Amino acid sequence: MNLEPQNVPEAFDAGARDYDGLVGANPGYHEHLRMSAERMQLPDKGRGLRLLDIGCGTGASTAALLAVAPYAEIVAADGSAGMLAEAEAKTWPASVRFVHSRAEDLADAGVTGPFDGILAAYLVRNLADPDPVLRSLRSLLCPGGVFAAHEYSVRDSRAATAVWNVVSWAIIIPAGRVRSGDAGLYRYLRRSVNDFDGADAFRNRLQRSGFTDVHSLTVPGWQRNIVHTFLGRAPQ
Ligand SMILES: C[S@@+](CC[C@H](N)C(=O)[O-])C[C@H]1O[C@@H](n2cnc3c(N)ncnc32)[C@H](O)[C@@H]1O
Repeated sequence: MNLEPQNVPEAFDAGARDYDGLVGANPGYHEHLRMSAERMQLPDKGRGLRLLDIGCGTGASTAALLAVAPYAEIVAADGSAGMLAEAEAKTWPASVRFVHSRAEDLADAGVTGPFDGILAAYLVRNLADPDPVLRSLRSLLCPGGVFAAHEYSVRDSRAATAVWNVVSWAIIIPAGRVRSGDAGLYRYLRRSVNDFDGADAFRNRLQRSGFTDVHSLTVPGWQRNIVHTFLGRAPQ
């Protein structure tokens, strides 16, 4: 059965135990998250800042934010209770707080702004309807606050699309099947990346959602032109 975006957090519940092992075997995964966090250019190691990590999963992106902004207050939210349990089982400073919430329901979960920065790592592609979520994330930012989407996007490059599909079929899907006994989440991953906006379309989507100074940078390694940091700011 095909996984649909509205069921993605529950699918991650099932894959939560194996997630860290799988991404740990992906060269560059943690370095690239850290690169996106650095590209947010958070001042003064985060002193006095409030940050949101939306779709924090098992906390890999939270750790990247913490590494570049160790003095910030960080709220990390995810729609999957299983992923969040894996994150919460790790050791964190008191400045990091985890919240079980879908990106669509942050207000109901008591997550309120303003935030100085928001990181959404591998989240937006999974949203059934990204535009309202992007607008609500923008409204959670203080004026001039920075938004970073760390995300796969291959549509603008035939070479990137080819590499992505080869790596998916040859490595990611078989590794997911071996580790978790079910490759459904990883087949969905391949398909969702192929279906997601090209980089140009996603930058336009961010602009339409009210972000300014929109631009993007890719990462080094086999993920060049496959994984990107998309950056934007809330208007001043
Ligand atoms: C690929 S994982 C990335 C986790 C983490 N950000 C990282 O970089 O390792 C995507 C996460 O997004 C979460 N997610 C998917 N759809 C969501 C939604 N609508 N609201 C909140 N979280 C969602 C999943 O539960 C999963 O933990």
